Amino acid sequence: MTQMFKKLALGAALALALPAASFAAGAYDTKIEDVAFSFEGPFGTYDVNQLQRGLQVFTEACAACHGLKQVPIRTLGDEGGPEMPMDQVRVYASNNFEVFDVELDDFRPAIPTDHFPAVTAAGAPDLSLMAKARAGFHGPYGLGINQFFRGMGGAEYMYSLLTGYTGEEKMEAGAMFWENTAFPGGWISMAPPLFDEQVEYADGTVASVEQMSKDVSAFLMWTAEPKMMARKQVGFVGVLFLTVLSVLLYLTNKKLWAPVKGKRFEG
Ligand code: HEC
Repeated sequence: MTQMFKKLALGAALALALPAASFAAGAYDTKIEDVAFSFEGPFGTYDVNQLQRGLQVFTEACAACHGLKQVPIRTLGDEGGPEMPMDQVRVYASNNFEVFDVELDDFRPAIPTDHFPAVTAAGAPDLSLMAKARAGFHGPYGLGINQFFRGMGGAEYMYSLLTGYTGEEKMEAGAMFWENTAFPGGWISMAPPLFDEQVEYADGTVASVEQMSKDVSAFLMWTAEPKMMARKQVGFVGVLFLTVLSVLLYLTNKKLWAPVKGKRFEG
């Protein structure tokens, strides 16, 4: 009996230890930095100014290659997002994007009800949901342990990607690759997209590569999860409700059983 138990225990221990060991030595030896974003934690919220700066970085430094086809332009005016006034959203849409109108059979300036365009020419992936798609990059098998305990997720990955260029580059099979410490495999086909002072922020924030990376990562977190704040609120109300319900049930239980429990066995 004890023999069998020992064998079982050993087997279980091995099963737990082996994948962990092979993970540690695995291919994803990437460097992801922890950034203290405003939207972390159960009560975290997006920083409106940061989202607006991030939108500016996206428009000026990323939109030439990357699309945001899942995101309606009008949502830039939504509460909990960049909260831009609607007239500004209208000007932004028509100044920056053209869309193909089937009825006109021609291109026209974008209006708020259009989505951000899909951009495929450069072979770059759409960024609408990228912040969530890359959220499970760490913790054994994407369990999200780091996300749970340290608030690290897709936004941190993007920040680390944008700031992770080492300056090394190489030509392979006729294509250029740049060394990047956050990208799985270490070499990415996206040239470093940001350099200091690339954009000029209206609020006077200094546009360092780190600052722009932070801002655009926060913005892309919002595009991937625009209702994060509403979701957290509902979650909080849910927990509160369950707590109150538990207390009430406990008291009800006490009261219901009080007459029975109070009785002595008199046989
Ligand atoms: C010159 C075109 C170009 C520009 C400008 C550009 N990118 Fe990229 N990006 C690419 C290409 C190409 C890839 C695919 C790289 C690969 O898979 O090797 C890519 C991939 C990515 C990825 C996905 C990485 C992954 O894990 O698969 C992210 C995130 C990203 N870019 C963010 C940005 C952001 C943010 C900006 C603006 C600051 C930006 N890019 C500007 C071309 C560009």
